[in-house]
Amino acid sequence: MEKIIINGGIPLRGTVEISGMKNGALPILFASILVKGKCVIENIPAINDVYISLDILQQMGVSVRMIDRTTVELDATHAVGGTSPISLVRQLRASYYLLGAELGRFGKAYVGYPGGCDFGVRPIDQHIKGFEALGASVTLEGGYIEATSEFGLTGASVFFDEVTVGGTMNIILAAVTAPGTTVIENAAREPHIVDLANFLNTCGARVRGAGTDTIRIRGVDALHGCTYAIIPDMIEAGTYMMAAAATGGTLRINNVIPKHLESITMKLQEMGVDIVEDDDYVIVSSSGKLRKVNVKTQPYPGFPTDMQPQMAVLMCLASGVSFLNESVWDNRFKYVEQLHRMGASIKIDGKTAIVEGGVPLTAAQVSAVDLRAGAAMVIAGLAIEGKTEIDGIHCIERGYDDIVGKLRAVGADVKKVVVPDGMPFGMMA
Ligand code: EPU
Repeated sequence: MEKIIINGGIPLRGTVEISGMKNGALPILFASILVKGKCVIENIPAINDVYISLDILQQMGVSVRMIDRTTVELDATHAVGGTSPISLVRQLRASYYLLGAELGRFGKAYVGYPGGCDFGVRPIDQHIKGFEALGASVTLEGGYIEATSEFGLTGASVFFDEVTVGGTMNIILAAVTAPGTTVIENAAREPHIVDLANFLNTCGARVRGAGTDTIRIRGVDALHGCTYAIIPDMIEAGTYMMAAAATGGTLRINNVIPKHLESITMKLQEMGVDIVEDDDYVIVSSSGKLRKVNVKTQPYPGFPTDMQPQMAVLMCLASGVSFLNESVWDNRFKYVEQLHRMGASIKIDGKTAIVEGGVPLTAAQVSAVDLRAGAAMVIAGLAIEGKTEIDGIHCIERGYDDIVGKLRAVGADVKKVVVPDGMPFGMMA
């Protein structure tokens, strides 16, 4: 079993380079299926979700060539639809993008039901509603989703009942080559939706309005290859901002788009953290003294649900009682049990966590129960004096590029170790 071991209590100081955005890279990698020709994708994060996605694409007949650690060349000219291996598809939530991409390219899709972090029910009814509006018939059977369009897809209007990031991207993927005009209303506005639209437009698509709640797509005959760089990962950046705040340190966080961080920046400032923004970096400094704050997660531009567990740790370290309301996912408080092991005082009331700050935390053996929960454990471990051991770190490596290396470079005493199964807590040096 692999673990991350942290000897915490050291203020982080130095510079962190932010990688490309996981939730932008994954749809763009799958979007390459729509293109007969070479696409060079730059600034991809070196994370497990990307490697699994590339493995899926390769097994579907896409030529995949890593040019360097963060650049890949893809050529889907000879891709075969319906051939994605279910064992890999089940490891990712983002594999649902195969549905939109296969429908757009082949007029039909056959994909295993996606996996990913467990936040309770994760329906795809809105994706299906959108595909059906474009003319597809969708069935779910035996763990597979099958979508067919006997007469081909055609542009149509889609109104989402829920603001859905994946649903918005999937309909864009299906619609870019569908004749006519597709209009998506109540679309998600996340920066990675703009990133996907920009990639597709660079390939010759006509997607307009991404970043607003109305997206118009005029179908084009075909897409051509291009070179495209993924935007920086705002959630990775936010995680390091919170690590600086939690440890009372100072970090310069490079390769960011400060506008994307606004909701995080504002909350940290409310907590007493000093933040200076420039064109493509932020400097975050904290005395370690944090004030209570109330946070409600919302779709972009609201406070991101993917920063909710990390924020809970800061609330534990702050003075006073903070309220943390999760409005996107049904069940994203599973990590609270892990923080309880560290002595945190957090009560869950429905979709709100009530966090009593200032209660002393102690280092403990904890698990990364999902990706961002794992990031929260790392931040807690960095802030608390003593040795924290985190298992389940494959969850963290799904979405954070070289988190151990980046933290060590800014002074953290952190390492990844292989622990023989069953070795008791505290025996690793
Ligand atoms: N929803 C429906 N029906 C649907 C789709 C979504 O009811 O057909 C509901 C969901 O149950 C949820 C809400 O709508 O309550 C939002 O879900 P959304 O579709 O926006 O989420 P997603 O596309 O499945 C992506 C990210 C998540 C991130 C959310 C919200 C990827 C691969 N995943 O998920 O990222 O939390 O958007 O921003 O892009 C993470 O990176 O840690 C992560 C979980």
